[in-house]
Amino acid sequence: MSANVVVETRDRVTRIELARIDKKNALTQDMYAAIGQALSAAEADPQVRAMLIHGAPDCFTAGNDLKDFLERPPLGERSITADFLHQIADLKKPLLAAVGGAAVGIGTTLLLHCDLVYAAPNARFQLPFVRLGLVPEAGSSLLLPAIAGYQRAAELLMLGQPFDANKALAAGFVTEIVPETELIERARGAALALAELPPASVRLTKGLMKASLGRAVGEQIDAELGEFKERLGSPEAKEAMTAFFEKRKPDFSKFS
Ligand code: COA
Repeated sequence: MSANVVVETRDRVTRIELARIDKKNALTQDMYAAIGQALSAAEADPQVRAMLIHGAPDCFTAGNDLKDFLERPPLGERSITADFLHQIADLKKPLLAAVGGAAVGIGTTLLLHCDLVYAAPNARFQLPFVRLGLVPEAGSSLLLPAIAGYQRAAELLMLGQPFDANKALAAGFVTEIVPETELIERARGAALALAELPPASVRLTKGLMKASLGRAVGEQIDAELGEFKERLGSPEAKEAMTAFFEKRKPDFSKFS
């Protein structure tokens, strides 16, 4: 278990809290593994009916740890990250998210797999993959066009600029905008409401809604990862990530 992920199961809801606030909840391999373990345990436990993931009210997650990307890129056949992405795509029980502050990279793409997403007005989403010299992940190159429409998805995935909760609501992957002070309780309330419903009906309904895209999403996750791994070693990605840690603007002018 990672010290940066707090897991608690109460009233048939498993709550997974990202708690590495000094690094804006950037996700390390250990954190992916801890979240993955918590999700597996929740799926296997007949007492658990729903799972809720959240960070601090003013910071969900700054996405994958960029130092990990530079120093320990997930280049193998299977990686902790790949397993995690397939796991969130294949969950049978409902997964809810409460999002305030930064929700960057996987902090946004993870939401495309959630059933209910509550966002505070301070939420700041971003899909910066192209700006980092990378490509989209978590099936987002399939799911976002399907949810938001191609041109809206292209704006978010290709320009990669930050956007607010209203835009995320309009794009279709936020359920409701909730004041920051009520955010986590509101999401927990929805999880508790789901936990009171007939569990098999809830699972079957989720399965039916996810069925049409299910296999394609799994294939897209793998296709994206193939490109993603190549891109991680590219001079463009190295320039983008080094510039982040050197707190300067990246210079892509020398690349063709
Ligand atoms: N990986 C590793 N460290 C990260 C990080 C990441 N993804 N995001 C933030 N951090 C670290 C910063 O390096 C900084 O560390 P330091 O205090 O040792 O210098 C600390 O977290 C605080 O970040 P900072 O950038 O100062 O906070 P901010 O409030 O000004 O900005 C963000 C917040 C999220 C907008 C900004 O940190 C950011 O853009 N992060 C990178 C997001 C990203 O590209 N993620 C990868 C997606 S694939």
